[in-house]
Amino acid sequence: MKRTVIRTKNFATDAAKLIVDLALESLGERNEFRMALSGGSTPRPVYAELARAKLPWERVHFTFGDERCVPPDDEESNYGMARETWFRPAHVPNESVSRMRGEIEPHAAAAEYEQELAPDYRHDLILLGMGDDGHTASLFPETDALNETNRRVVANFAPKLESWRITFTLPFINLARHVCFLVNAKKNRELIDKVLAGERQYPAARVTPANGQLTWILGE
Ligand code: 6PG
Repeated sequence: MKRTVIRTKNFATDAAKLIVDLALESLGERNEFRMALSGGSTPRPVYAELARAKLPWERVHFTFGDERCVPPDDEESNYGMARETWFRPAHVPNESVSRMRGEIEPHAAAAEYEQELAPDYRHDLILLGMGDDGHTASLFPETDALNETNRRVVANFAPKLESWRITFTLPFINLARHVCFLVNAKKNRELIDKVLAGERQYPAARVTPANGQLTWILGE
């Protein structure tokens, strides 16, 4: 695994440029770009920037690293945020997007999503964020999903949030060609240092794509 840490005052611009470069590389090599989106608030300005990129969206396949168990029009929906900031403004075809159905029973939604992806599906890029407890996707500290070794997508109960989530598992994340954490300047620097030092009580520290690249883009 090759790891790169980028510290930048131009967070959204630099993150968008890295993603476009990876997209062009994948499209050039395989005529497609398989990208998983992260949720929360950090990616919003990056997605808005990417909506202006001139890419063949019909050759991009968007998945989601996790989703809240809410309908797509709920303000909590990660899909809803991506649709608002990126898909609609860029006229991304619906066929390019695989949405986790947060509105149905979580275990069924996870199983359905996993079935939708080919058994040998490998992402070119998975975007991730990090919470203040070191969670990533919806892999929260000391939750069951962290111990999953076979499944690619599971339902995971987050006690702190008292809610269910749908999430990629660590094996699926670590299968990616490239994983990129987007962490803005508001995030706790001490936590970032502990995660980068590999302190495994923080789920984000367990993202180590064995045959891929790992990039951390840290806003300053
Ligand atoms: C989610 C995300 C989650 C997020 C972190 C950081 O669904 O909430 O996938 O892992 O990336 O919680 O969230 P912020 O970007 O809002 O700080």
